[in-house]
Amino acid sequence: MTQSIPPSARAEHPTAVQRYMDHVNPAFIQLLGTFGFGRVFVRAEGMKLWDDQGREYLDFLAGFGAVNLGHNPTELATSLTRALDDKHPNIMHVGPQVWAGELGAALAERFPKLPVALFSCSGGEAVEAAMKLARAATKRPGIVYARGGFHGTGLGNLSVMGFSRWQKPFRPLVPDCHEVPFGDLEALKAVLKKRKVAGVLLEPIQGEAGVLMPPGAYLAGVQALCRKYGALFMLDEVQTGLARTGRLCSYQHESDLDPDVVILGKSLGGSLIPISATLTRMEIQKKAYGSVFKFDLHGSTLSGNALGCRVALETLRLIDAWELGERARTRGEQLQAGLEARLSGHPLVRAVRGQGLLVGLELGPTGSNWVQRLAPRLVKLLSRQVLGQWLSVRLLERGLLTQPASQQWDVLKLTPPLTVSAAEIDTLVDAIGDILDEYRDLTPLVLDVTKRLGDQKKSGWLFR
Ligand SMILES: Cc1ncc(COP(=O)(O)O)c(C=O)c1O
Repeated sequence: MTQSIPPSARAEHPTAVQRYMDHVNPAFIQLLGTFGFGRVFVRAEGMKLWDDQGREYLDFLAGFGAVNLGHNPTELATSLTRALDDKHPNIMHVGPQVWAGELGAALAERFPKLPVALFSCSGGEAVEAAMKLARAATKRPGIVYARGGFHGTGLGNLSVMGFSRWQKPFRPLVPDCHEVPFGDLEALKAVLKKRKVAGVLLEPIQGEAGVLMPPGAYLAGVQALCRKYGALFMLDEVQTGLARTGRLCSYQHESDLDPDVVILGKSLGGSLIPISATLTRMEIQKKAYGSVFKFDLHGSTLSGNALGCRVALETLRLIDAWELGERARTRGEQLQAGLEARLSGHPLVRAVRGQGLLVGLELGPTGSNWVQRLAPRLVKLLSRQVLGQWLSVRLLERGLLTQPASQQWDVLKLTPPLTVSAAEIDTLVDAIGDILDEYRDLTPLVLDVTKRLGDQKKSGWLFR
């Protein structure tokens, strides 16, 4: 059944908006229209995006941190074309997958202690591969995860989802998954002590929870507890990995960390081909799948396909050749220092934090005026639900694409391609500073939001 979208939106974008509305996700289109975030992006190159009106944007969202090399890099396109020209079988399951072996070897060079890779097509699948691996290798049922953790949206993933809103409609979930507070070693120990836990799954930095950094020595403490009680120490580097935080993986900032499983996704296929990997030790892989009766207990038809593996190989080469770790470190420091300096003392800015080019700007009133004293819950609700999206829309109008963390809307999460230039970082910092200079109090900001919602409603929730 054709759903009706507002006539104004239909007039502007007769095809893309209506078709998406009718055949993919109507509520999403509604939400974009409500916020005034409606744009149809049609071209992408490097750091830049263009919409169907020909307007140019700098992309500080980069596919939720999946476009580390920038959009459509020529080198990756060339490697794809070369791969297609070769006529190598793309999907092959009755012999060794030649390019999966090559990619496995390239990953092993970079992660010598984790020389085996289980390939999949998405971050979520790679997390499920880790959960299965842990259970099969340890013969224990339990998986421990942290409150605020985000690991994908499959049914297994939701069982380790640190946000109950996402779990609720899908219960009952996979049993024996236990939530602990992020950063709390005592709570973790209490669960691990029962020796029924197969693995502990954590993000080294919780991205969707608002770029939450682990307390000092937390990850090392988790590792020690895992070793003591026989659980696998599993790090989800889907968002933090592939040079985003300044090292190939975020855990490598700490020299004593030695995880049993590392999960890569998002940027592994250079944002062109979906591919992800679950890296582990040979003995763990063997315990789980190391016999002719078990070798096929994990996999999928499309996993390890040649095109994905070749693009991933080229992605790894470019991360090194372009020194993306170093660039993420330098630009990340510039971004954090720039935001801190420009927004220092701003009454609606609570914190700037992050690592490399995974940076969070936490918004919300820092002081207490009469409105906050009179209606603290309302102020909290407004801050949570409105501030980040409002700033995002204001930035979009200046040609800068950003979004708040998906589970924490008062934190603007900045994850540009790692190729971003110093001047582009300055542009973002100046724009955020300029916008927030106009609003040093929640009241005018709420009035602006209300006016915008009214204008959007009047316009028929227009895509602009
Ligand atoms: C840390 C983390 N793990 C897993 C996932 C799921 O990856 P995908 O969306 O590719 O399934 C995400 C997605 O944002 C993520 O941030």
